[in-house]
Amino acid sequence: MLWIFSDPEALSRAAAALFARRARQAIRRSGRFAVALSGGQTPRQAYEWLARSPCRDAVEWDRVHVFWGDERCVPFEDPRNNARMAFEALLTHVPIPQDQIHPIACADDPKAAAARYERILRDFFGERPARFDLIFLGLGEDGHTASLFPSSPALEEQVRWVVAVEEVTPPRVTLTFPLLNQAYLVAFLVSGANKAGILREVLRSPSDPRRWPAQGIRPIGGRILWLVDRAACSLL
Ligand code: 6PG
Repeated sequence: MLWIFSDPEALSRAAAALFARRARQAIRRSGRFAVALSGGQTPRQAYEWLARSPCRDAVEWDRVHVFWGDERCVPFEDPRNNARMAFEALLTHVPIPQDQIHPIACADDPKAAAARYERILRDFFGERPARFDLIFLGLGEDGHTASLFPSSPALEEQVRWVVAVEEVTPPRVTLTFPLLNQAYLVAFLVSGANKAGILREVLRSPSDPRRWPAQGIRPIGGRILWLVDRAACSLL
């Protein structure tokens, strides 16, 4: 499903409201809300709206468990760090228990960090289905999403939920299709004219996830929502 907004602010407000709504539904259904945040720049404004009333007051933050879809393997202090952005824009402004926030600490050894994060996720889901209630994803101009890049070996992963991506600089750690595609809802946030070409390819071209990894996101028994602004869908 495609939701089109007039501008980045309208898109961001809608993404914040979506988070609050899904949180309410999930907490009613299972007592907790498991969400994976996206990095990059597009989600920052949505996180800032979520940190403000009315969205802020609509969420039972003590029931929220935050994970990330991917991370750049740089220290938390580095402005490229995805967790840092989310802490600045949202997590330091809402009453969420610190032990329910799970950044991907991977500045040291990406492979070891990926294995560590997989253990954290397997402990968290335990006997429950490993289904995130909501996953926010972005779309790179080359069709990558999370840190699943075109032609990357990570695209072929069938078993592990988290892998290191070392063919890029800085290296990355990313969730894989086997875990991402178990989500109840994946919401792509796509903004700006520079994304118009790739958005048309991803939505209109025959499926080729090796070329456009975002096409590999197909939640089994779940849904995909595209929140896009008018500039990004100008070629659709
Ligand atoms: C990352 C992201 C990545 C991002 C896209 C879009 O760590 O970079 O997880 O997948 O979502 O590159 O980034 P922008 O929103 O900055 O265009």
